[in-house]
Formats: sequence, C-alpha cells, structure tokens
Amino acid sequence: MAIDLLLGLQWGDEGKGKIVDVLTPKYDIIARFQGGPNAGHTLEFEGIKHVLHTIPSGIFHPNVINVIGNGVVIDPIILKKEIEALTPFHINIKERLLISRKAHIILPTHRLLDKASELSKGKSKIGSTLKGIGPCYMDKTGRNGLRIGDLENADFPNLYHKLTQKHLAMIDFYGVTLDYNLKELEEEFFEAINLIKTLTFIDSEDFFYHAQKQGKKILAEGAQGSMLDIDFGTYPFVTSSNTTASGACTGLGIAPNQIKNVMGIFKAYTTRVGSGSFPTELFDETGDKIAQIGREVGATTGRKRRCGWLDLVALRYAIHLSGVTQLMMMKADVLNGFDSLKICTAYHYKGETIHHFPYGTETENIEPIYTELKGWHKDLSDIKNVHDLPNELMDYIRFIEKETEVPVTLVSVGADRKQTLLF
Ligand code: GDP
Ligand code: IMO
Ligand code: MG
Repeated sequence: MAIDLLLGLQWGDEGKGKIVDVLTPKYDIIARFQGGPNAGHTLEFEGIKHVLHTIPSGIFHPNVINVIGNGVVIDPIILKKEIEALTPFHINIKERLLISRKAHIILPTHRLLDKASELSKGKSKIGSTLKGIGPCYMDKTGRNGLRIGDLENADFPNLYHKLTQKHLAMIDFYGVTLDYNLKELEEEFFEAINLIKTLTFIDSEDFFYHAQKQGKKILAEGAQGSMLDIDFGTYPFVTSSNTTASGACTGLGIAPNQIKNVMGIFKAYTTRVGSGSFPTELFDETGDKIAQIGREVGATTGRKRRCGWLDLVALRYAIHLSGVTQLMMMKADVLNGFDSLKICTAYHYKGETIHHFPYGTETENIEPIYTELKGWHKDLSDIKNVHDLPNELMDYIRFIEKETEVPVTLVSVGADRKQTLLF
C-alpha cells in the first residue's frame, strides 16, 4: 500500500495546496485526480505566492513527478498560462509533469455553456467558477467528450468542430444573451493546444500500476472539498466530480486496497464561496472579522468567501465518507483574539436534535447547536514548537479529536510553508 490521499473536508479552499507542498519531499509522485481549473491551490515560500489550478502542488520540488490524472478536466488555455508562470523557476515540465491521455478537455464552448446555464438559473444559480467544469463533465458522462489522447489524432480539429457546433445549438436553447467572439476564443484555444501537444502524455493507470510495483510513494491531491462532492455534497450546489476518497480510485485508476493514509484538511472555522446551504454561516461582525483576518477571498475567482464557525456535523460526515485517518487543521492563527469560539456539534432539524448531515440542509430547517470554548490571545504565526501553542488552542484541538475520533496530526499557523507544526 503506497498511496496516500489528501482531501478537503469542507467546501474547498482548506489549504490543500500548502500542505501538499509541505508533504511533497516524502513522496515520489503527486497526482491530481479530479476537478479542473475551478481549483485554486495557493503555495507560499521564500516570499513568493503561487496559485496552481491544474498542475499538482508538488511541482516546485525537484525529483518529484506530478501527474494530472484521468479524472481531471483540463482547460488548455489555463494550463498554458500556469506553465508560463513557472518559466522563471526553470522546472523541466516535459519530464516532471505527466498528463493522462484519458483526462477530458475543456473547450471554449464549455465555458460559454457554464455561463448560459448559470444565467438561465437566475437567483438559484450554483455560483459556479464559470470555468466550464459542469459542461465538460456532462460531455464526459454523456460520452461526447474530447480527451487529451485525441490530441494525438490528426482528426482532432474535426472532432473539435463537431462538438463545438453541438454546443452552439445548446447555447441557443438556453435563450440567454451571451456576448462572445468565438473566433478569438478558438485562436487562443488552438494556440494553447499547440503547447499542450509538446507535453508528456501517459496511460496513467498503467503508470500507477508500475509505480506501485516499484514501491514509489504516491500522494493523491484532492481539489474542492467533500461538501462539494457531486453525490454527497449539498446538491445541487456542488461541483461535478467526486471530491471524496472514491474519486481518487476512479480519477487515477488505482485500487481501493492500495490506499493507506487518508489525510483530511479543514480550516479551524468554515468558509464557502458560491451559493448553497451553510448551516454555521455568520452574518455578523464575527463573520466579517474572520473573513478579514483570514483574507477570505477566492484564489480562482476573487470572490468573497462566506465565513462561519467550525461545523463538526459536516466534518464528521466528510470524515466518514472518505475514511479519514488523520486530520490537519489550517488557519489556526486566524482565530487569535476571540474571547470565545463556537463549535457546532449537532443540529436542531425539523423539531429534532440530529448528529448526522441530513438530506435537506436549507438554512431555514437547521439551527446549529454550539459548544462554546475559550479563545486565546496569542499571535501564533511565529510559533515553531507545538509546546508553545496556547492551552486554549490545545483544548480546541482535543475537543475536535474527541468529537471526530480522529487524531489531529498537523496545525497550520500561517500561509508560508514554514508555518506548519507537526504533532
Ligand atoms: P486550497 O484550494 O485548499 O489549496 O486553498 P486556497 O489556496 O484556495 O486557500 C487557502 C488560503 O489560505 C490561501 O490564501 C493560503 O495561502 C492561505 N493559508 C493556508 N494555510 C494558512 C494558515 O495556516 N494561515 C493563514 N493565515 N493562511 C493560510
Ligand atoms: P479548491 O480546489 C472552493 C465551488 C464554486 C461553486 C461550486 C461549483 O480551490 O478548494 P464549479 O466551477 O465547480 O461548477 O462550481 O463549487 N467550487 C469551489 N469552492 N474551492 C474550490 O476549489 C472550488 N471549486 C469549485 O464556488 O459554488
Ligand atoms: Mg482554493
């Protein structure tokens, strides 16, 4: 068993990119298994901030292979920009970044369809990142999609044209007004395709089979968060892939019995960007304070993230769905300076007290039940040793461990690689 997983347990943006970067020296291969450029994974070290959307977060470490798995959807234009942003770091992309032939391609018209769909929904829009994720996965499951392997087929422009024509008819069907210049979009797309064609494509399931046989250590990097899972998230306000542990098996072609550690990442509080229920959301000064100290602005869209208290009902649900073996708590530093902190342990739901995450989570049906814990007044950002963490923070962590029955093995106290404490 040589594969570990790292997953977000909330509604995304838990800090996955930072921790994958921190853990990469322990691995030979880092692999993304689902999602696409809707992800924004932030890494900070040596005074520089990097945001990755498609490229796995192990790319800055020498001697480590990064794989974009078959479960990922790739926008060539965004991938090209990411590669160009890496130019100053002299990374051998052709050797260090491998792409599954079975990964699907996001076309410009997928992005247009995403927009048309959201516009047609009006107030009940998903709050999509508008990167074309949903329409691309729809083509995948509808068995119409184009894949990276199709770029090796001389007929690709025709395949592209056929699918694009279909998309244009679908856009008309939505009956909304979209302002776009297809010719310009296509020029940009095919220019990016030319670059992507120079990269290394692999049959990733075969690659992983042999890598495991050779005893290589593999870390699968999740995108989004468990509560955005297409099956188990707060549907329909979710993304279009399985963000939980099962997604790693189908998104890489690895067997479930090869998975060892499942690392679940969560913020010490909760955030969400886009629409959908959020039982512990705060609409007051406390929520504003968390958003301000935590700089809760989306890494992909620049949208403000909604903020609230830690929700252990949702967290336990995510832990159970993926068989999480260890927890990693992010952004503990942001909760400095609160006299007391609340943690939700159960919900009042339709006249009952429940401890599980129910089918319908519309805010009007749910009232969180909180336990109040003492806060701390100590800047954590320079702390290098676990023993120097304030007692109140340790009590906060112990409470989470007791409620979830999973150990916390890492606490993050700042955005930088170095601001990471291992237990
Ligand atoms: P991801 O999508 O899960 O990789 O997370 P994002 O990069 O979208 O969002 C996490 C944000 O929090 C980024 O801006 C990180 O630089 C920042 N960050 C990560 N860990 C910490 C931490 O422990 N403390 C603080 N203050 N910021 C953090
Ligand atoms: P990372 O990997 C936070 C949200 C969007 C929207 C819903 C559907 O950085 O944690 P989509 O574009 O997938 O159709 O959007 O999912 N969403 C994310 N929220 N972090 C992400 O990724 C997200 N990816 C998608 O805001 O509510
Ligand atoms: Mg993010």
